[in-house]
Amino acid sequence: MLKKKNKPDVRKFSKQELWSMIDHNNLPKHVAVIMDGNGRWARSRMLPRVAGHRVGMESALKIVEVASDLGLNVLTLYAFSAENWRRPADEVGALMKLLVEFLKRELISMKKNNICFQTIGRIAGLPDWVQQQIKWSIDQTCKNTGLILNVALNYGGQQEIVDAVKGIVRDVEHKRLDINELDEETFSGYLYTADLPDPDLLIRTSGEMRISNFLLWQLAYAEMLITPTLWPDFRKREFLQAILEYQQRERRFGTIGKLVQSK
Ligand code: FPP
Repeated sequence: MLKKKNKPDVRKFSKQELWSMIDHNNLPKHVAVIMDGNGRWARSRMLPRVAGHRVGMESALKIVEVASDLGLNVLTLYAFSAENWRRPADEVGALMKLLVEFLKRELISMKKNNICFQTIGRIAGLPDWVQQQIKWSIDQTCKNTGLILNVALNYGGQQEIVDAVKGIVRDVEHKRLDINELDEETFSGYLYTADLPDPDLLIRTSGEMRISNFLLWQLAYAEMLITPTLWPDFRKREFLQAILEYQQRERRFGTIGKLVQSK
């Protein structure tokens, strides 16, 4: 852990320098990302919102690449929230098409780089043609043992908690679960992320200070990094900066921590 006054200013370094400054033995296991700001990126260039989503997809491809190269265990990308259906129909349609394009392009690199594709969210609520591509990507990559690329689709944290409670009630009714045994760990096992570690780091682009119904349970102890950069401009270098910034944080998990202790 670097003392606060010795913290390097990570903005000054190149991608290669950042790579060598990162402690590769102290990486976050799970990084979750709220990819925000596509619309504003497009508007500032007098382009339609969908143009922002398209360039945003290119950022997503790059971030998957660097997360895999770094050797992270899990990368979760918030691609379509349960509330995003409220957007104009043509934008929703374009996002669905982009998702399928992303999956088709990503499949080649997932196979090459041993990446395993997963999703969280109410997948059955997506159009059939999108579900088919998702299933194909999962089938083609589920035996891969490298990075887990977890994409949140038709996802809402509150909906996930409701679904978990329904699962618990069903198991209690069928005597598969004793209610007295229900604790935080058991509860986690009913979430969509049952087999994944909780995120260590949450990155949100575009400067918004909101959690937007994302991983409400799982983010309990995540470090949060909010950058003003809009998602289409968020590329590998800034992801590496985020990892380095994470490594400079002191995670306390409710304890008083070393910096406080030494005062
Ligand atoms: C938020 O920006 C972004 C989304 C709702 C969609 C995210 C989708 C992508 C990055 C493209 C596809 C990527 C994958 C992984 C399939 P916004 O539209 O809310 O931006 P604004 O707040 O500036 O309007």
